[in-house]
Amino acid sequence: MAQQPIRFDDGEAYERGMGGWSQLAGQVFLDWLAPSPGLRWIDVGCGNGAFTELLVQRCAPAEVQGIDPSEGQLAFARTRPGAQTATFLLGDAMALPFSEARFDAAVMALVIFFVPEPAKGVAEMVRVVAPGGTVAAYAWDLHGQGFPFAPIQAELREMGFTPQLPPSADVSRMEALRDTWAAAGLEAVETREITVDRTFADFEAFWASSTAMGHMRSMLEGLTADDLEQFKQRVKARLSVDASGRVTHQARANAIRGRVPMAS
Ligand SMILES: C[S@@+](CC[C@H](N)C(=O)[O-])C[C@H]1O[C@@H](n2cnc3c(N)ncnc32)[C@H](O)[C@@H]1O
Repeated sequence: MAQQPIRFDDGEAYERGMGGWSQLAGQVFLDWLAPSPGLRWIDVGCGNGAFTELLVQRCAPAEVQGIDPSEGQLAFARTRPGAQTATFLLGDAMALPFSEARFDAAVMALVIFFVPEPAKGVAEMVRVVAPGGTVAAYAWDLHGQGFPFAPIQAELREMGFTPQLPPSADVSRMEALRDTWAAAGLEAVETREITVDRTFADFEAFWASSTAMGHMRSMLEGLTADDLEQFKQRVKARLSVDASGRVTHQARANAIRGRVPMAS
C-alpha cells in the first residue's frame, strides 16, 4: 500500500474529516482555559478555522489572528460565517509574523506535532505574548491511541503497514509537552487530558469522515474492492456500534497551558 504525505491543502475535506473532532475537543480546551473577554489572540496553525470559530464565538475576543502555512485551509477559514471577525494569514509557527508582546494569548490546536521544531514554535508563542499572558496547546495523544482515526491505523498495523505519523509526534506525550513548556520558561504550567465522544449515524458515516482527507484514503488505495470491504468490517469490529447501528467513538488529547513570566 502507498501513502501520501500528510498534507492540509483542502479545507473542505479537513472539515469533513477533522472539523467536528476539532470543535469537540476545542470546546473542552476553551472551557478549561476560561479566558477573560476582550483578549488579543493568536491561533497558530489555525487551519480551516474550526478552532478559531470557537474562539470567536465563545471567548468574546478583542482580536483573533489565525496563521497557517496552507492557503487551502485559510481559504476555507475565511468563508466561515462564525469567524468573520478573525483575520487569517499565511505564516509559520517557527517564524510568527508579529512583534513581541503583541497578544494576550497564543494557542496551538492540534498543531504542535506538525511543527518541525516544536520548541522553536513554543518560543515564538512566548515571544509574541505579553508578560502575564497565556501560551497553551492541545494535541491528540498519538502514542496513546487518542487519535480519532486510531481504529483505522490499528487495523493497518495488523496488516504490517506502518501508518505515517506527523513529524514531531513525540511531543504529543504529556511529559514531552511539560518539558517543552518548562524549557520555554513558562510559569504556572498545568496539564489535563481531554476526552471527547462523537456519535455517527452509522458505520458508513464514520468511514466517510475518517477517510475524507487524502492521506487517509491513500493508505487504502492498493486494496481490491473485496479486501477493502473486509478491512472496513475489521475496523467496524473495533468500534462501539449500538442496536440501531450508530457508531460512537472516543478520542483523547493532551492539553497544556502556561503563563509568560513578568519581565524582571
Ligand atoms: C490538524 S490541523 C489543525 C487545524 C486547526 N487548528 C484545528 O484545530 O482544526 C494542523 C494544521 O497545522 C498546520 N501546520 C503545519 N505545519 C505548520 C507550521 N510549521 N506552522 C503552523 N502551522 C502548521 C497545517 O497546515 C494544518 O492546518
